[in-house]
Amino acid sequence: MSSQAQEPRKTGKHHHKGRGKTNTRRAAAALLGAIMRGKTLDEARDKLSDLNDSERNLADAIGQAALRHYGEIEDLLKSYIKKMPPKQSLAKPLLFIGAAQLLYMNVPAHAALHETVAATGRREQPYRGLINAVLRNIARAQEIGTVPALDPLANIPDWLRTNWQAFYGAEKTAAIAATLANPPPLDLCFKNTSAARDWLAQHGAQYEGQSVSPTHIRLAEGTNITKLAGFTEGDFWVQNAAAGDMALALTALLDGPAEVLDLCAAPGGKTLQLAAAGHRVTALDISKTRLQRLANNLKRTNLSAEWVSADALEWVAPAAYDAVLLDAPCTATGTLRRHPDLLRHRSAAAMAKLMKLQAELLARAADWVKPGGVLAYGVCSLQPQEGEAQIDSFLEARDDFTLDAAAPTKRFTPDNNMDGFYLALMRKGGEG
Ligand SMILES: C[S@@+](CC[C@H](N)C(=O)[O-])C[C@H]1O[C@@H](n2cnc3c(N)ncnc32)[C@H](O)[C@@H]1O
Repeated sequence: MSSQAQEPRKTGKHHHKGRGKTNTRRAAAALLGAIMRGKTLDEARDKLSDLNDSERNLADAIGQAALRHYGEIEDLLKSYIKKMPPKQSLAKPLLFIGAAQLLYMNVPAHAALHETVAATGRREQPYRGLINAVLRNIARAQEIGTVPALDPLANIPDWLRTNWQAFYGAEKTAAIAATLANPPPLDLCFKNTSAARDWLAQHGAQYEGQSVSPTHIRLAEGTNITKLAGFTEGDFWVQNAAAGDMALALTALLDGPAEVLDLCAAPGGKTLQLAAAGHRVTALDISKTRLQRLANNLKRTNLSAEWVSADALEWVAPAAYDAVLLDAPCTATGTLRRHPDLLRHRSAAAMAKLMKLQAELLARAADWVKPGGVLAYGVCSLQPQEGEAQIDSFLEARDDFTLDAAAPTKRFTPDNNMDGFYLALMRKGGEG
C-alpha cells in the first residue's frame, strides 16, 4: 500500500511555476533531517510552516513514508553509495525522501526525481550530482523491476526486533513490521452505539466506513475529519479501536454509572468515553498543555468531567473510587504507524525508566480503588515488559487483586490492523 497524498495544486501568487513543489521537497527533507538529529515529528513540523495546506500534507506524508521505510531505504542507498553524506547536511534526508517517493508513494516518478534534485540548495551543492545519479538509478530500477527485495523488518531497530521476536515469534514479528510500513486507518469513536450506527447508515458509504467496535467506525485513509458531518457538533473524536477497548471493557464490568478516576487522562480519549457512558469522571494528568486539549475535547463533545492538574505520584485522592483507569505513560510502540519517528528515538534504557514509573503509578492507583472495585491498566505499547510482565509483578505483590474472570487481559497488535495495546482488568477483593 502506498500513501494517498497527492501533488499540491498550483498555489497562490507567491509561488512560481513548480516552486511550491520544490519547496515541498525541501521542507520534507528539513522535517526528516530534524528528526534524524533527535527532534520528534511534532517538533519537526515547524519546518513545514511556510507551506500551504496541500503542500504541508504532502511534505508530511513524504517525511512519514521515509520514516516508516527508513531501514529499507538505508539498505538500498548503501548499495549505491559508499559514504553517506553527514547527518548535518540536508543531502542525506533529500536522498531518503527522494527514495521514499519513488518506491512507496503515488507520486509520479519524474516529479519525485526532478523536484527532489531541484530542492538541493547551495549548501548541498557538492552532493547534487550524487543525489541526481542515485535517484535516477532507483527510478530506472523501479521502472524495469530490478529493485532488490527489501525487508520491512529492516525498519525496526534491533532492540525492538529482538524484543518482539522473543515474545511474539518470528512470523508474527515479520507481519507486525510489514503492517508498520503502511499509514494507519482513521478510526472514530462515537458517544454511543446508536450514534455510531446512525452515522454509518447516513454517511458511511461516502467514506468507505466500516464498524470496528460497537462505538468505533473506520474510514478510508486520508479522510479530513473536520469536514465530516457531526464533527462541529462533537458527535465523535479520533481514537483507534484498540485504545477504545479499555473504557468499553471497564464500563461492561461496572454495574451502571460509577465514580471513576481516569489517571494519566490527557488528551482525554478515555475520559470522553467514560463520560459518554454516564460515569462521574475525575480526569488527572501531569501535563497542563495536554489537559488543555482534554478540556477543549470535553467542550467540543459537550461532555463533562472534573479535571485535575497534578502528578499522580504526589496527589492524594480525596476518597476511593468504584474504578480507576490507568492508561500509563509508555514507549508508545503500539502507535508506531502514527508516530514513525519513535522508531528512531525510543531505546531500551528509556523503556526501563518508564517501567519503573508504571509500577509506581500502578501501586498508587490500586490504593484508590474501593473494595470490590475495578482497576483497569492499559498501555499503547507492544512491549511485554510494559504490559504482561508489569501486571504479573503487580499481581504477585498485591494479593488483594485478581484478574477479572469475565474480562481478564487483552493484547492488540498491528498485524490485525489495530494499534498495539495491552489491557488488564483487575478486581479488588473485599466487600463490594
Ligand atoms: C498514554 S498517555 C494518556 C492518554 C489518554 N489516557 C487518552 O486516552 O487520551 C499518558 C499520559 O500520562 C501523563 N503522565 C505521565 N506521568 C504522569 C504522572 N506522574 N502523573 C500524572 N500523569 C502523568 C502524560 O502527561 C500523558 O498525558
